[in-house]
Amino acid sequence: MMRAVGLRSGWTFFILLICILISLLVLLLRHTTAAQPHKKNCNLFRGSWIEDETNNYPLYNSTHCPFIEHEFNCQRNGRPDKDYLKYRWKPHGCSLTRFDGGAFLKKFKGKSIMFVGDSLSRNQWLSLVCLLYTSQPKANYNTTRVGDVSIFTFLDFGVQMMLDRSVYLVDVVMEKKGRILKLDSIEGGKLWKGIDMLIFNTWHWWNRRGISQPWDYIKVGGKYYKDMDRMVAFEKALLTWAKWIDTNIVPSKQLVFFQGISPSHYNGTKWGQPGIKSCSGQTRPLSESMYPAGLPPSLRVQKNVLGTIKKAVTLLDVTNLSLLRKDGHPSIYGMNGRKGMDCSHWCLAGVPDTWNEILYNLVI
Ligand SMILES: *[C@@H]1O[C@H](CO)[C@@H](O)[C@H](O)[C@H]1NC(C)=O
Ligand SMILES: *[C@@H]1O[C@H](CO)[C@@H](O)[C@H](O)[C@H]1NC(C)=O
Ligand SMILES: *[C@@H]1O[C@H](CO)[C@@H](O)[C@H](O)[C@H]1NC(C)=O
Ligand SMILES: *[C@@H]1O[C@H](CO)[C@@H](O)[C@H](O)[C@H]1NC(C)=O
Repeated sequence: MMRAVGLRSGWTFFILLICILISLLVLLLRHTTAAQPHKKNCNLFRGSWIEDETNNYPLYNSTHCPFIEHEFNCQRNGRPDKDYLKYRWKPHGCSLTRFDGGAFLKKFKGKSIMFVGDSLSRNQWLSLVCLLYTSQPKANYNTTRVGDVSIFTFLDFGVQMMLDRSVYLVDVVMEKKGRILKLDSIEGGKLWKGIDMLIFNTWHWWNRRGISQPWDYIKVGGKYYKDMDRMVAFEKALLTWAKWIDTNIVPSKQLVFFQGISPSHYNGTKWGQPGIKSCSGQTRPLSESMYPAGLPPSLRVQKNVLGTIKKAVTLLDVTNLSLLRKDGHPSIYGMNGRKGMDCSHWCLAGVPDTWNEILYNLVI
């Protein structure tokens, strides 16, 4: 009798011990995963740029990606310095998993990915094409263009990488009066339906004036305007887009991202070098994690609008980290060479590879 009781309490003790061990293990695992990326408790967009000493960066050799357009191909255009290629983004509190093209293509097998926006979307689209292509240089692919949509297909994986050039997201249409920017019309959205992953962007064209402004009137609420506060127009258009998202996106089937504001570097005062009027000759990022001039006001507008959307949209909040990269632009090694000065777009390889590496960490 005594023996049996002792045996039973022995078992109870044993089971209790197992329970405690399992709880400890669970706690331990939680703790280890907390140090991993793509977990909610690590903000991937807060961190600093560090010089990579492992030779893991850049993520690809630009001469091995034949699709980089002239305007982004800084090394081929004669840019002499190479340090800007060596930086990797290190979030506070965790590390990014290195981009793995094979894993990405497997994950998106049979799926479609579309970037929608202006040339900054083109910049990020080409970066992703290069990241994937250089990981599978023998893979079969084809490229086509249908209307405003460029398509790069990885045939062995059935992965379609698309770019829809739509600089305002809302419509610009020809009427008798002229070219009309319609803030509450988004017919262009018919191309986005059913796409598995969408990455939107618009901002840079909202401040265009004069000859580079591609519209004559703004129309909203049935009224025409010769012009209006551009930030207000931007917000109205984004709200139209937000409504489109809530009406058309199927969250169980589609992933939606918004590329934050990609910053330009034409004014040295903003990064603590007054008198400097371009990004020319900049070879290093800012080492602090705060940009002296702070964030652009357009980002606040963007965040407010994203806050009104009921469906899941993730802000690819690249503004902060890109602000620090005054060294990442083509400057005179871009589109128009020495006659130009491009401090808006980014060299490839370069900063957009990090945007895509973060995207990778969020979706994989
Ligand atoms: C990039 O590739 C080219 C051609 O294969 C090679 O000559 C060059 O050394 C490579 N650059 C780096 C940094 O590896
Ligand atoms: C490219 O591949 C797609 C998908 O297989 C196919 O529909 C299209 O016809 C191909 N285009 C060309 C030009 O080969
Ligand atoms: C440069 O930035 C500073 C600080 O934001 C501002 O006061 C100045 O007007 C800017 N200069 C130009 C040419 O935009
Ligand atoms: C940008 O970075 C600074 C410094 O890390 C931080 O204080 C600020 O909140 C960040 N802004 C955003 C939008 O993440």
